[in-house]
Amino acid sequence: MDGELWLWALCALLPALWLLSLFFADSDLRLLWAEWMGRRPEWELTDMVVWVTGASSGIGEELAVQLSKLGVSLVLSARRVQELERVKRRCLENGSLREKDILVLPLDLTDTNSHETATKAVLQEFGKIDILVNNGGKGQRSLVLEANLDVFRELINLNYLGTVSLTKCVLPHMIERKQGKIVTVNSIVIIAPLALTSGYCASKHALQGFFSTLQRELINYPEITFCNVYPGPVQSNIVKNALTEELTKIAPNPMKGGLYQYYKMPTSRCVRLMLISMANNLKEVWISGHPHLLGAYIWPFIPVMKCLMKNGAWLRTGKVGEARKENYRDLFLELFLEVQTPKAPLLLLDQGIPGGPPLLEEGGPVHATRSWD
Ligand SMILES: NC(=O)c1ccc[n+]([C@@H]2O[C@H](COP(=O)([O-])OP(=O)(O)OC[C@H]3O[C@@H](n4cnc5c(N)ncnc54)[C@H](OP(=O)(O)O)[C@@H]3O)[C@@H](O)[C@H]2O)c1
Repeated sequence: MDGELWLWALCALLPALWLLSLFFADSDLRLLWAEWMGRRPEWELTDMVVWVTGASSGIGEELAVQLSKLGVSLVLSARRVQELERVKRRCLENGSLREKDILVLPLDLTDTNSHETATKAVLQEFGKIDILVNNGGKGQRSLVLEANLDVFRELINLNYLGTVSLTKCVLPHMIERKQGKIVTVNSIVIIAPLALTSGYCASKHALQGFFSTLQRELINYPEITFCNVYPGPVQSNIVKNALTEELTKIAPNPMKGGLYQYYKMPTSRCVRLMLISMANNLKEVWISGHPHLLGAYIWPFIPVMKCLMKNGAWLRTGKVGEARKENYRDLFLELFLEVQTPKAPLLLLDQGIPGGPPLLEEGGPVHATRSWD
């Protein structure tokens, strides 16, 4: 009887410990488990041909560098050839690859007419495509009421249609070989939405709909697998390159002076978790620290909470949205004043976050949080 009791206690303790680890987690629990107990990328992802879009910066660049250490053949795509050449050099210096193992292939995701030719070029060079990583894309920082329709059109053309087009070009080859993996970098904003990203969020929702349907259509090809990655804020150039109210208007650069990225997940950590997801064939993964990860877990229950808490939950999420909008305006003001009086020292006010970015305001700090992604 005693032994049985111990067994029950152990059965209860293990899941409890696992759940407790959620508080310290930077990914969903299944990915956390795979990192602990699952297959290693170093065993699973060798000798493959991997095509990475958006490889000239941020997550795509880091992915290329980490993949280069696994002995894969790499295809690096984005629009800026010089940046791709720089990433190629990084891969050659840090990895185990030789010149012939890396193909720099300039590609504009919005120029869908070029995708077929690009796919042929990869097949001609390496003879196969094992993994396509749909990573290239742009973010958004503008309110619905203030953003031009062109901005929404561009986000759909780039983040959604560009990805769909390239996937459609690569898919027949994977179907012919009855194997392959399509990794798509989505975003946690589609699980817990954030103000200022409406068009971006919509384009990523469209991707989710597309890939979940495609998986059903390919049910007879179990060796063609999908991995949809939902990162929270990750250190990269996404905010700097984000679309704003108009296509030609540049977003305020929050990376000025190295500030504003301190709270985001390091790119290397995000990419390591992506590789673990790929090695373990995980279909959907959330990669983020708190509070975004917690937000993703509790967001689906918000309507229930609304009933229970008499609008309390809505009130709180509404306040987060307001703070985010205000912070965005503050940054514009900050940069504007800096341009007007470049030599004048800014009034730096600590907003209570150790090492956090200063806020500029008459009379004192205003907002307790800065939430960008
Ligand atoms: N960083 C985050 O916090 C975060 C969070 C969630 C999801 N994501 C997703 O992660 C992916 C990578 O973004 P990132 O954070 O690494 O941002 P990033 O540093 O700005 O990189 C974006 C990449 O996309 C490429 N790109 C942009 N427009 C393109 C076009 N028309 N054709 C082809 N490539 C294009 C860029 O290269 P070129 O300019 O040279 O073309 C660049 O290599 C995106 O899909 C983004 O939505 C990022």
